[in-house]
Amino acid sequence: MFPVDKRSVQCLWLSAPDAIPALCFALDDMPAELWRDAPDLDALADAVTPYLQRHGARRWDFIWSMERHFSEPYGPLPKAQQTFMAGIPDMFLGAADAVAPAAATRLEGVLAEQAHLNRVRLHSDVTVAAAPYQYEAGSELPAEHREWLEKLFFAHGECMIPYFGEEAKGIKSMYQDVDAALMEQAPDAASRLRFSNFTNEEYRHTFQFFSLYNAYDPALPRKIYEHEQKVFRAYMDFKTDGTWLDYGIFNMLADRLGTYQAFEWVQSSYAPLARVALKAVKDERGHGNMGYLHVRDFIEREGERGRGHVQQRIDNHFYPFHLAAFGSSSSANNRMWRKWGLKQHSNDALRAAYHAEMSLVLDSLGLKVPVFDDAYARGMEAATKLRKVARAGDAYA
Ligand SMILES: [Fe+2]
Repeated sequence: MFPVDKRSVQCLWLSAPDAIPALCFALDDMPAELWRDAPDLDALADAVTPYLQRHGARRWDFIWSMERHFSEPYGPLPKAQQTFMAGIPDMFLGAADAVAPAAATRLEGVLAEQAHLNRVRLHSDVTVAAAPYQYEAGSELPAEHREWLEKLFFAHGECMIPYFGEEAKGIKSMYQDVDAALMEQAPDAASRLRFSNFTNEEYRHTFQFFSLYNAYDPALPRKIYEHEQKVFRAYMDFKTDGTWLDYGIFNMLADRLGTYQAFEWVQSSYAPLARVALKAVKDERGHGNMGYLHVRDFIEREGERGRGHVQQRIDNHFYPFHLAAFGSSSSANNRMWRKWGLKQHSNDALRAAYHAEMSLVLDSLGLKVPVFDDAYARGMEAATKLRKVARAGDAYA
């Protein structure tokens, strides 16, 4: 008997940021017996193919949409095979228990290098002083742990500005205007649905992080909000050209980067953050997928000319920035966060893993993967220039 009930899927798919309405309509049509009798996901996908075809939905989209919501660690299905759409970042991190995606055998070099980095850096340059889930809100924290936990909260304030307290009345979301402008540009009903689901999910993150900070210290949400008004953030200086397509590329790259950022906290020594992080990793995967679908739609609509445009935007604008955004190789902050069990990997390890994953993403869209060393050097050069014009916060820590 197939371990996921069709009714659970019906509840989740349409409200996700990577919703594909054609899949949802096909799902509604599928007989429950057909669904229940399938021995595994591949067999189910074969059995439901006529229903997918009838509604213009794709088999591959069916598989990753199932795995994204119901694969380990989020559900009873085995670990995702569609790694860059449904997996979690450990598949690319090259750690001893990581699963190298079968489709990525040609990327062995990068993954092998990654495994080496992990062995050398993860375990030899710091002695970890706190275990996963060691501390709860209200625990007596060692002074240095407290200091670095608070630095982490402030360093990542940009993705979790707490609007939800009593004091937040009258404060507008920093993304409200850009979200409204993008909604007006959505090319079709499915895109508009996805974008609406996405903005709702970001508000939910704000609520989750507000609750986390509030439990740590009720004065903290306001302090982080005020800090964000003053601090320089490199990503704020990073501009899209305002079009729907550019924002799709941005989601495809930036929210995928967000999955790596949140994954660092899944084993956090501060348990309340660890609990939120596993949910956030899943959500960020969906945001990256939304970007992927919007870029895929664009290329399919616009043909080779469209593909050339996407390639040029990625090569010249997006890719260098995102490689640099993981921070410098020699970051002292990163070492202290690892010492206190607040992050797990070096910036280099995360950057290499992200590149391995992006290689699969771009390849699947018929795009070329930028040369790592060249893109990284250009990104760091741009980051250094930005630092000269503004006192850097922690965005490139
Ligand atoms: Fe996101």
